[in-house]
Amino acid sequence: MARLFEPFRLKDVTLRNRVVVSPMCQYSSVNGHATDWHIVHLGSMARGGAGLVIAEATAVSPEGRISPRDAGLWEDGQIEPLRRIVAFVKEQGAVPGIQLAHAGRKASANRPWEGDDHLTPQEGAWETLAPSAKAFGDKLPQVPREMTKADIARVKGNFVAAARRALEAGYEWLELHYAHGYLAHSFYSPLSNARTDEYGGSFENRIRFLVETFEAVRDVWPERLPLTVRLSITDWVDGGITVDASIELTRRLKASGLDLLDASHGFVVPDVSKIPWGPGFLLPYAGRVRKEAGVPVAGGWFINEPEQAEAALKEGQADLIVLGHAMLDDPHWAYHAAKKLGVEQPTGVLPPPYGHWLKR
Ligand SMILES: Cc1cc2nc3c(=O)[nH]c(=O)nc-3n(C[C@H](O)[C@H](O)[C@H](O)COP(=O)(O)O)c2cc1C
Repeated sequence: MARLFEPFRLKDVTLRNRVVVSPMCQYSSVNGHATDWHIVHLGSMARGGAGLVIAEATAVSPEGRISPRDAGLWEDGQIEPLRRIVAFVKEQGAVPGIQLAHAGRKASANRPWEGDDHLTPQEGAWETLAPSAKAFGDKLPQVPREMTKADIARVKGNFVAAARRALEAGYEWLELHYAHGYLAHSFYSPLSNARTDEYGGSFENRIRFLVETFEAVRDVWPERLPLTVRLSITDWVDGGITVDASIELTRRLKASGLDLLDASHGFVVPDVSKIPWGPGFLLPYAGRVRKEAGVPVAGGWFINEPEQAEAALKEGQADLIVLGHAMLDDPHWAYHAAKKLGVEQPTGVLPPPYGHWLKR
């Protein structure tokens, strides 16, 4: 039996296999409300056999959106359209997950295919928030406002309120976005956090926002359901976050109730020159976190082939495999992987209206 198609149990949730749809912004929401695009986008990957489908970075407050068309859960009216998606994903046998996010200094931007740069005032730019008044740079030069203690308390509360709404919508797997240079990561990294109060400086201080937010969400997110974090485990830049530091942070989060770490990397500064791009390049680092922090890990990046995913699981580099581009390319990736890995009845991966006819 291929390891990729073994079920995976975490708390009271069982994934039918280890194929995970990575959260991917669609920039297709209207005032933060999900649309038919999302039901087709997420629904097709659930139909295609994925075990877990994680909905895109969903802003906990309006200023926490990357772009005006981002998904949001900052008000109750945004729950209803998500319920429909959750129900459909479940009907297909997949577990519905969602990622909660605040974009920090990378907010107030155009969509990637519209420039990926900051909005102009004419386009509706808004004030961005960050631990320090330091711009990201490059195509995102807007200087954010340094958050006050009151801002910090409010945003933590926004995460908690959004988590409650996610539960109401029916999600069974919650992921906090602590990666890719967005707000939480920018507290964590010394490259973006220059604060001199208890939220900046030492490692203890730089992880405070992340740990406090996690603990506040854990208080409202049921114990029976997985609460996970997506973390940039390294900045790939001198003076930035290291894998060793992230192993320590993961241990702290585990002590506060972390169920799984989704290992990601980078993007807190524009310099990407030291990223060792290549198939599965992050997996050895993900494997270290898994082993040394003693938590289940989801690993991804540049995984396209089922054999690659299978090897990563067998080598103990990850418990789950998250896929982005491969899923956009082929929403039936799990079905095709099952066929390639010789799973006995790959047609069983697809629901009968498709699977039945593909037997021949
Ligand atoms: C269209 C698109 C949108 C993305 N949006 C998010 C997001 O909302 N949250 C996140 O953590 N990562 C996001 N990512 C990163 C992916 O989740 C994934 O980690 C990355 O693409 C690397 O995996 P891959 O090589 O399998 O694509 C996005 C990637 C793509 C291609």
